[in-house]
Amino acid sequence: MAGGSRTNPSGSAPPRRAPKPLPGGPRRPAFAAVQRPALPPGPRPGMPPALRIRVVSGPNLDLLGVREPEIYGTATLEQIHDGLLMFGEERGVEIECLQSNNEGDLVTWVGRAAGDGFDGVVLNAAAFTHTSIALLDAIRACGIPVVEVHLSNPEAREAFRRRSVIAPACAGKITGFGAASYALGLLALVNKLRGGGELRTAG
Ligand code: DQA
Repeated sequence: MAGGSRTNPSGSAPPRRAPKPLPGGPRRPAFAAVQRPALPPGPRPGMPPALRIRVVSGPNLDLLGVREPEIYGTATLEQIHDGLLMFGEERGVEIECLQSNNEGDLVTWVGRAAGDGFDGVVLNAAAFTHTSIALLDAIRACGIPVVEVHLSNPEAREAFRRRSVIAPACAGKITGFGAASYALGLLALVNKLRGGGELRTAG
């Protein structure tokens, strides 16, 4: 089952489905610059059927905003999630955002995503990207497309980050665009699930 009633076994960060009001005014989502203004919430007329996407983030991504901002930027994970939720509202996509520092949580959330009613997964596995055969197996087992995303470009960094053990099981990968990597990964996934309908490419 998706959404706010779901508990996060790790306790790292609660699942997110709707932005919470902040004291002192609204929080700025991480990709506010690309939001389309003045669209009412909910699906647009003529929009294809609703999709459900699970967004999973791995270890230390709960520290975004303060963690090595010169590499990962200054947006918090909560701001990134808010941007994804707004993106989803505009496009008729229900989004569930989860984060954990524990490998087993990621394995469970990915492996059970289809059974939990999701159509696809956006996954930033963080350091488990480079080590987790269990996550590779979960992606292979889950039966729905998984898009790998990274804020940084791991291939331009240390040698140990250049290999993604999960990439062979993923539908595709978006790296190096900061917080926007999540939104681009989500767009690519929705485009794939809707048979190319989101991006109006020629082929
Ligand atoms: C990361 C890249 C990984 O190599 C690293 O371990 C992370 C974050 C990224 O989003 O750039 O924790 O996944």
